[in-house]
Amino acid sequence: MTLDARQAPALENMLNETRTFPPSTDFAAQANAHQELIDQAQTDRLEFWAEQARKHVTWKVPFTKTLDWSNPPFATWFEDGKLNAAYNAVDRHVAAGNGDRVALHFEGEPGDTRSVTYADLQREVSRAANALAALGVQTGDRVVIYLPMIVEAVVAMLACARIGAAHSVVFGGFSADALRSRIADAGAKLVITADGGYRRGRATALKPAVDEALSGETPVEKVVVVRRTGQDTDWTDGRDVWWHDLVEAADIEHTPVWVDAEHPLFILYTSGTTGNPKGILHTTGGYLTQTAYTHYNVFDLKAETDVYWCTADIGWITGHSYVVYGPLLNGATQVIYEGTPDTPHQGRWWEIIEKYKVSLFYTAPTAIRTCMKWGEDIPGKYDLTSLRVLGSVGESINPEAWMWYRRVIGGDNAPIVDTWWQTETGAIMISPLPGLTSTKPGSAQRPLPGISAEVVNDNAEAVPNGSGGYLVLNEPWPSMLRGIWGDPQRYIDTYWSRFKDLYFAGDGAKKDDDGDVWLLGRVDDVMNVSGHRLSTMEIESALVSHEAVAEAAVVGASDDTTGQAVVAFVILREDHAALAQSEEGSAQVQETLRAHVAKEIGPIAKPRTILVVPELPKTRSGKIMRRLLRDVAENRAVGDATTLADSSVMDLIADGLSARG
Ligand code: WTA
Repeated sequence: MTLDARQAPALENMLNETRTFPPSTDFAAQANAHQELIDQAQTDRLEFWAEQARKHVTWKVPFTKTLDWSNPPFATWFEDGKLNAAYNAVDRHVAAGNGDRVALHFEGEPGDTRSVTYADLQREVSRAANALAALGVQTGDRVVIYLPMIVEAVVAMLACARIGAAHSVVFGGFSADALRSRIADAGAKLVITADGGYRRGRATALKPAVDEALSGETPVEKVVVVRRTGQDTDWTDGRDVWWHDLVEAADIEHTPVWVDAEHPLFILYTSGTTGNPKGILHTTGGYLTQTAYTHYNVFDLKAETDVYWCTADIGWITGHSYVVYGPLLNGATQVIYEGTPDTPHQGRWWEIIEKYKVSLFYTAPTAIRTCMKWGEDIPGKYDLTSLRVLGSVGESINPEAWMWYRRVIGGDNAPIVDTWWQTETGAIMISPLPGLTSTKPGSAQRPLPGISAEVVNDNAEAVPNGSGGYLVLNEPWPSMLRGIWGDPQRYIDTYWSRFKDLYFAGDGAKKDDDGDVWLLGRVDDVMNVSGHRLSTMEIESALVSHEAVAEAAVVGASDDTTGQAVVAFVILREDHAALAQSEEGSAQVQETLRAHVAKEIGPIAKPRTILVVPELPKTRSGKIMRRLLRDVAENRAVGDATTLADSSVMDLIADGLSARG
């Protein structure tokens, strides 16, 4: 694991970037965040967090302890407090007289719409909670949710939270196999899914993947199915239940289960450096405190007047923290959209912004770059003047995309918040504060008030301004992961062992002359494709599980649109090797293997390119030198190959590739 400047070409201009954009006086005058927030956090960090926890969260039993860090890296926050996440996200707004405020403007891909107020949401969540309880779901159980971006997805998550059952949302784009392993790891009792959802103009089935995932031995007893598309659906009597039958019959009154602050709220699986996805565990009190605090300050939310839209799917952490918990805790009105940005036309997002007068918009750099490619005359057709804050998340945003976002979408006026965080951190950690920070295109800049981060060298020493190193977090934070589900040792090994007493994020970073942080990409074997985390090992093990493949090595190569793209090098088994001799045969091998990866993990993991090679470059100890393969994948001169066990391998690979041209 070294800092090898792997995304060097893409980052070169980033590191020469010197433009800054100070906040306008108008914005600054009305901003939620102000200098006092920074000062308070600096004066007494723990008291600051206790105050945020009291300000943004309603407690059934107030906490008296803020942080217990006596057994690092296992933290507890607000430990003796009791609360309920769904009560905080929904009921308290109704109790405060805001029941008529729209919580969700749902926009289906085919154009169907539905607006749900906080009072509606309270009824729906209560009914769903009663329904789940009637099916035997209890406090402490795990429920897997495998749904499209529809209102029921939000309701299902909150219904689990209401009864104190941990949800584990699996992105609808993951395959049956991926779903099966997550269900097994979480020990889920129940799955909530849909017949299907709309994507790219057609109904895509979801339920068959659930049926396949549950074949054979499974901990799952019941499957609740939302009818979204109305398509034909196989049915297992005694196991499958329609959501509408169940929920419509359920009582609209439900008393939330008050849980301890450290009660599990959810498990979310994410890719790590090894083959098995990790179940990242988040608990209740600290997570809610930080998601609400960040959503309020980073997006400058004015709940009465703003319309907020985060384009993330609930299958990812961004959907958990900035579609469900952060905005709903803050009583925001938001848009959720089911489909793709170019269905039925490439202006769909901008049309939605115009229609609902979206004022706060949160998306990913890959989406911005895609829209740049489509051309600025497309957003130019819509009225985007309602926008007042623009957010970015998922990967570094290159200065060109940042400038385009600011000029074309933000009317040269809306501040951009480039937010760095992870599934593990639960909430935003490093970001400009609109109204306070002079923003810089491509930099996430400063840890938020209350957060402590550093860039260190191999010896865990802070690097001076102007230098690069590894991003670490050097104080616990409220929404930090509490561990990896069922594997405390892996939690310690993965995050707390690289540097003593420091949380190692896995990202390279640089501090500029002002001390602002610029993220430089992953320094481990995790790839970032369209803002989605994929593990090289996971895709390699999917490839070698195919009968034609003897060995595989996967790298992330830089890609203009998706940030990185998956490039796989495979050695075929002898009995299949002949296949790849002809151009046609080799195209066929590629297609077969791409489909196989889609089946094993999901379409998002499909390699962009699969190269059949005779050998793989390995060190004498047998470790694949991915750095050299990345050079090949990015059409660069191959770097230092002197540590290879067999130095002719790279020539063999190059010859093979050029022969096929
Ligand atoms: C990357 C997504 C640069 C980073 C919330 C991190 C970023 C990984 C940024 C986490 C950003 C996320 N600038 N890189 N603003 N935001 N990343 O768990 O490599 O899906 O470690 O969480 O995405 O991805 P995850």
